[in-house]
Amino acid sequence: MDLAAYEKWWVGYDYPPKKQGADRLLILSMEKKLRSHRWFYGINETGLQHKGALRSAGINMDKYSGQPIIGIANTWSELNSCNMSLRSVSEEVKKGILEAGGIPLEFPVISLGEELMKPTAMLYRNLLAMEIEETLRAYPLDGVILLGNCDKTIPGLLMGAISANLPAIQLNGGPKKPGVFNGKKLGSGTDLWKYWDDLRIGKISQDEWEEIGKSLSCGFGSCNTMGTASTMNGLLEAMGMMPLGLSTLPVDSPERLAISKDAGKRIVTMVKEDLKPSDFITSSSLDNAITACMALGGSTNAVIHLTAIAGRRNISVYPERFEEIGSRVPCIADVQPTGKKLMDEFNDAGGIPALLCNLKDHLDLTAKTYTGETLKNLLKSQKVKNQTIIRAMVDPVIKAPTLVVLHGNLAPDGAVLKVSAASPHLFSHTGPALVFKNYADMLDRIDDPLLDVDEDTILVLQNAGPKGVPGMPEWGMIPIPKKLQEKGICDMVRISDSRMSGTSFGTVILHVAPESAAGGPLSLVQDNDIIELNVQERKIEWKISAEELEKRTKNRPVLQEKILRGYPGLYIREVLQANQGCDFRFLKPESDEDLIFIQPVVGRS
Ligand code: FES
Repeated sequence: MDLAAYEKWWVGYDYPPKKQGADRLLILSMEKKLRSHRWFYGINETGLQHKGALRSAGINMDKYSGQPIIGIANTWSELNSCNMSLRSVSEEVKKGILEAGGIPLEFPVISLGEELMKPTAMLYRNLLAMEIEETLRAYPLDGVILLGNCDKTIPGLLMGAISANLPAIQLNGGPKKPGVFNGKKLGSGTDLWKYWDDLRIGKISQDEWEEIGKSLSCGFGSCNTMGTASTMNGLLEAMGMMPLGLSTLPVDSPERLAISKDAGKRIVTMVKEDLKPSDFITSSSLDNAITACMALGGSTNAVIHLTAIAGRRNISVYPERFEEIGSRVPCIADVQPTGKKLMDEFNDAGGIPALLCNLKDHLDLTAKTYTGETLKNLLKSQKVKNQTIIRAMVDPVIKAPTLVVLHGNLAPDGAVLKVSAASPHLFSHTGPALVFKNYADMLDRIDDPLLDVDEDTILVLQNAGPKGVPGMPEWGMIPIPKKLQEKGICDMVRISDSRMSGTSFGTVILHVAPESAAGGPLSLVQDNDIIELNVQERKIEWKISAEELEKRTKNRPVLQEKILRGYPGLYIREVLQANQGCDFRFLKPESDEDLIFIQPVVGRS
């Protein structure tokens, strides 16, 4: 911002009061251009009050001479064990900020714990994004370090920071160490779902099930598979928003603390450079993130989150960028649920920087990062340490495509299938539908011995989308009916407007848009309707005559929006469909002009 623009920005709010023009000119001539100065340079009653507020918080304002004030947004919470390592991260960040001459101010934000929040942490992702944006707007902060770890904390923090567009770096807390059962390392989520199926058909005992539960509860940290947290943290590295090599480091790694301290130093410099997310979250960096997602065999949730993140920059990535990049980038990371290993071994193989080295020909290496350097420069010193875990492009774990966007009359606005976690024998499959009206209906009937189902049946779950629950929980991996499991059937085609955990697997078609509760075609499907999946042709077709469709549409029960007060009510009214990232209508900019972050009036509160 040049001086003239800065003066306009300042004077526009008539603060400091015009009669104190000398004060204002002094500030301008001192080249002190930080937004926090609007709170602390005034010599009137509000300036005194603002300085007093920090003095009361233990900041020595007698020594204040215009240092950048850096927020640390911390999702640490005892309600969310995935994020409980963030307290030590925050302490290191503070040391770095202080060493670089900044003033750190840590603040808590809602912690979205995937395991305990119901109906789903996804319901609250946009709330976290709003909390971040509004906290950054309302307080005298010049930059921010964002601390997240569990799935939805990662996109929620980033979406808010992009809209606020203050200098920002995001850090994570690391994946948890694997527990062990019967001498085998356990993958978070992935092994839980597998052993649950074993318990349902009596392959393991209740005692063994209890033991697995204890082994899976193996301390702080995010899921140790390539679930949504590992995927999203990795994508932030690829996007230039997180230090390269950080996301996969174990939760108790000393290197993690050292990198966090360096990030504290860096954010102070970023404020001086005025380097903001809009300078490096671009079409190129988003393409790099989508490329990394395919190569990781990443979570399907990343499709929704990246669409929402890009939407905050008024950039469209769905479905075109996923289709184009997905068709040429294979999965080269041998990590569960697509591969065999866990995050500890992926990290030892070189982690995300190594993955990016093997992907160089598919990345835009000129993309800038939070460091101010290009991805190309940052990757110069990186290498793959184990080519069996992070493979060469010519020797992939799964060939491209690893994830496809499907279209057809059942999903006019798209649906997603994670091919890398699905069964090839079902890639071209036609079968009769068995429809569950909602999640409770599915739970009631799925294990009924009289259920009219065989391995050709396509299981359909309605009313599990963004508006339908609300929040679009991870209900898409419908269990295989017990009577089929007992016959050794491990996979079937399943379709819903829901999501599934990044640790899940199966031929599971997700994110059908528009959803049932918004009047999408999925809501009209009935038992024994024929549905065709064709992955090769990216097609999901519902075989229904025009007359029958017209009849069902006419007789459709009137869609009554659930009138809910409070945040769920706001969510149902404002949430966009999965193909638009499930952001809120009023948070997504409609033009580049909407990207301007409105500064608050700084005067008496
Ligand atoms: Fe928190 Fe998986 S449940 S990261």
